Amino acid sequence: MPVLSPELRTDAERILARYPEGRERSAIMPLLYLVQSAEGRVTREGLKEVADLLGLKTAEVEEIASFYTMLRLRPTGRYVVSVCTNLACALRGATDVYAKAREVLGPGSEDMTEDGTFTLHEEECLGACDAAPVVQVNFANYDRTTPEGIVSLIDALRRDEPPPPSRGTFPGEFTRASRILAGLEPDAGR
Ligand code: FES
Repeated sequence: MPVLSPELRTDAERILARYPEGRERSAIMPLLYLVQSAEGRVTREGLKEVADLLGLKTAEVEEIASFYTMLRLRPTGRYVVSVCTNLACALRGATDVYAKAREVLGPGSEDMTEDGTFTLHEEECLGACDAAPVVQVNFANYDRTTPEGIVSLIDALRRDEPPPPSRGTFPGEFTRASRILAGLEPDAGR
């Protein structure tokens, strides 16, 4: 069964149409986000379908997909909780925030919790060092997070009641956030 349904193939064509003739390969990132929006991650079949659309080898697409942490190749929860533990955040307690999240979500949550709700990810700098420690959920930022704060955040997500992020609006589940990154849904900004 193909990853890209007829509707998603139409979306893929819309994405490809944004690029000048001969430059369609520049569409690789939005096409990968489109595939991710269909399956909640980028599978081998998804890589192959993107490669076929762009006239590339699957291995070439995989090289790109495996470089970016916003693209997930492994099973992924509905909420990807990324905790920055880089220097500025570490100096302001991010290690404790990450440890608390891991304690609450349990072992194995770096892939996906058993109920499919969460993936916990230890992230490099998220580019918002002045708001350290920074946590992202499905690419929406939560600034100046504490260990207590991440417990509340996880509790709220378990109830599917994400609190408003520090900027913009919450993008929804990981699949919808991926459609936003593909440029196919409005983004209220961060
Ligand atoms: S070091 Fe955490 S956002 Fe930059």
